[in-house]
Amino acid sequence: MSIELLNKNVETTSPTYFIRTFGCQMNVADSLEYSRVLEGLGCVRSEDEMSADIVIINTCTIREKADEKAISYIGNIVKKRHSLAEASGYPLRGGVALVGCMASIRGDEVSKRFSDVKLVIPSSEMEHFESRIMETWPELVGSDAAIQTEPVLRPEEKYGRFINIVRGCANRCTYCIVPTSRGGELISRPREIIFREIQNVLNAGVRSITFLGQNVSAYGQENTDGYGLPELLSDVRDEFAADGIWFKFLTSHPSDVSDELIDVLNTHDSFSHWIHLPVQAGDNEILQRMDRGYTREYYMDLVGRIRDKLPYTRLSTDLIVGFPGEDEPAFMNTLDLVENVEFDAAFTFLYSTRRNTPASKWADPVPREEKKRRFDILVETQNRIAMDRAQSHVGRELTVLVEGEANSSGRNGSLMMASRSREEQMVVLPGVESDFGQMVRCRITEAKLRSFRAERID
Ligand code: 5AD
Ligand code: SF4
Repeated sequence: MSIELLNKNVETTSPTYFIRTFGCQMNVADSLEYSRVLEGLGCVRSEDEMSADIVIINTCTIREKADEKAISYIGNIVKKRHSLAEASGYPLRGGVALVGCMASIRGDEVSKRFSDVKLVIPSSEMEHFESRIMETWPELVGSDAAIQTEPVLRPEEKYGRFINIVRGCANRCTYCIVPTSRGGELISRPREIIFREIQNVLNAGVRSITFLGQNVSAYGQENTDGYGLPELLSDVRDEFAADGIWFKFLTSHPSDVSDELIDVLNTHDSFSHWIHLPVQAGDNEILQRMDRGYTREYYMDLVGRIRDKLPYTRLSTDLIVGFPGEDEPAFMNTLDLVENVEFDAAFTFLYSTRRNTPASKWADPVPREEKKRRFDILVETQNRIAMDRAQSHVGRELTVLVEGEANSSGRNGSLMMASRSREEQMVVLPGVESDFGQMVRCRITEAKLRSFRAERID
């Protein structure tokens, strides 16, 4: 970023904003909402965090590493923004707003440490985002601001969109900070509001919608009317399902995945058969200490039922290694479950102690090196399984939604496209710019660990 650019920014009347998003898809969806609000207040999106007037940092706090990442990012940009302002001779306008999950847990501490962090908005207070921005920077976001309704979108946000349908989590997994950071009560958005949002994004040309919740399968459980995720999905089907529109959902707690939910997925081609079903561990004692509310046998049976009814389901999971009290036999049970289930993909995490969670108070005699050894074995095992499963897809035909340009180019430098299937497989294939937002047919030619290469057959 050059000093000229900084000067130009200072001279323009429109305030600029930059958003950096860490963490999960719920944060990605929230960031889009923040953009919409800021653009409604007359701010213009900037891709440069050094010169933007308002820098929104949307944080994650799920593991300690997430905290460390955000803090080092803040330290870095604050320092650079000051030196750039000094070099240019123009004073800095605006400042940094800390939002999202870490803001809920460590917001005060961070704003004390960095004076540029002028605003802290915890996830639970995000509905006050607009008024808090206006109070904090009245000189930037004035009343004569231009009103825009649609934020500037990146290609991948143009055709595939996340819609939050439920906030918070009513479970109390003993390792998890989410009930503290995002709220311990479920708040499900009413059907009418979700429908309006679906209609809006479909009107904007979106072809794939992912319904989000920390525990999406618990949608509606805080109400007594029995209107849950299966009911919502069947209404979505009746109202919106059509050829070439996909509906996905994420993340499902195994205890809340019912036969009704599995059945509804079979009723229309619009529904994705990708289920992200975090198991966390394969040992019953550990599962109990995690307070997950199910056993290994229940989980295996659920996977069996899903695969009976939806034979081509793509299953992914989350796994935690090194939970307090995990001994060698317990770890072997997790390894054994992974071998048995054969997940298409898994996110594997080393246990990280989170403040004020029940597990943070428990003795944890297993040394870090041993945890790391187990972690490596688990990752290696899962990678082998995922690779085998991916290989078995080579030669298959499938439909993908082209989202944008791929980072890599083809042989002889031809343009390659990044795309995604209904089951959330990443596929790189040749294409042209007019393919953006289109569904195209292709045949898989090569399997990699996390993506496929394909050739066009349309
Ligand atoms: N340590 C390690 N992993 C964790 N997760 C949640 N809390 C922790 C923690 N304290 C993982 C779980 C969850 C995913 C989003 O993050 O596997 O499903
Ligand atoms: Fe955390 Fe458990 Fe809720 Fe998931 S289900 S957010 S792991 S408390």
